[in-house]
Amino acid sequence: MNLNVLVLPGDGIGVEVTQEAVKVLTHIAREYGHTLSLSEGLLGGIAIQKAGTPFPEETRKLALTVDATLLGAVGLPEFDNAPPEKRPERGLLGIRKALGVFANLRPVRSYRALLDSSPLKNHLVEGVDMIIVRELTGGLYYGTPRGIAGSGPTERAVNTMTYSREEIERVSHMAFQLAQKRRKKVTSVDKSNVLENSQLWRRVVNEVATQYSDVKLDHLLVDNCAMQLVLGPKHFDVLLTENMFGDILSDEGAVLAGSIGMLPSASIGAKRPSGAWVGLYEPVHGSAPDIAGQNKANPLGAIGSVAAMLEYSFGLIEEALAVNMAIEEVLKSGHLPADLKPAGKPASTSEVGDAICRYVSERRVPA
Ligand code: IPM
Ligand code: MG
Repeated sequence: MNLNVLVLPGDGIGVEVTQEAVKVLTHIAREYGHTLSLSEGLLGGIAIQKAGTPFPEETRKLALTVDATLLGAVGLPEFDNAPPEKRPERGLLGIRKALGVFANLRPVRSYRALLDSSPLKNHLVEGVDMIIVRELTGGLYYGTPRGIAGSGPTERAVNTMTYSREEIERVSHMAFQLAQKRRKKVTSVDKSNVLENSQLWRRVVNEVATQYSDVKLDHLLVDNCAMQLVLGPKHFDVLLTENMFGDILSDEGAVLAGSIGMLPSASIGAKRPSGAWVGLYEPVHGSAPDIAGQNKANPLGAIGSVAAMLEYSFGLIEEALAVNMAIEEVLKSGHLPADLKPAGKPASTSEVGDAICRYVSERRVPA
């Protein structure tokens, strides 16, 4: 199979984690006999520096022609006070919208080898296996009117939380269909005791649910959900929520997995005629400028995102499994990156990538 992939390393540790993710993808292609066509583009702070805008036209064109896009992270402190259109994060919002990837899947699971990495008690995190389905191209992140106007005591800022029925329906279908392949439970999260926006959300989710009688649906208010995620995380199967709630809750989910460095994500939406998803794959973590360029970031979120790409955009289930099994092997080996190893000598970013490739090969050709 020909794998036509755009790589957008972005900023900070995005560069070094995508390097390892590409190493693994290249290795998989070689081991399993696929042709890999890689292109690289600019997104985020680096794009502002080199092309004057966080989402250059060339990147947009590339992203629309490839089969899948692998992204590192965006964000640099030098742009903290820049106007919104000159911020790295705008690039990320731009590419998500351009690709129409309205569903962001963020699996959160606990690994046995990492139980002690979570600050929560082992019995709470052991066996956690959920997937957060975050709506990704609507809500507060994109709603208009938006902006800051005026000055002095009357200066004011506005953002708008808006969802159409259609936007809620399509992401809900995604969540229910995922649940059908899992433990058949959807928890929809909103703030319907206060927001009209959430009232529509809940009503539409209930309506969609009638088409999935084999899936159990319940609803949680977002504040309660934040609490339930640490009190009883095992009860969650598919957690469906809007853009901003999903952003916040998925960082909380990272605590269950042991480190935010572990979490991969797949953003999907439209399907190609072949049935493959148009996909954008990125780790959940940010650009972590404080540790960038030191070869110590955890690349497993990015490498897990490669596994998601193999599965969703290319339908290569065996290859995806090989990557995920290799991640488990690395964790079992105990030679872990610094975020997972508070004491002793940690593994560097590139050592983790090398180890993944080694485990992939060992599994393929048993010794
Ligand atoms: C994420 C990130 C982004 C988001 C930022 C970098 C714009 O936090 O993917 O979770 O808020 O979506
Ligand atoms: Mg986030």
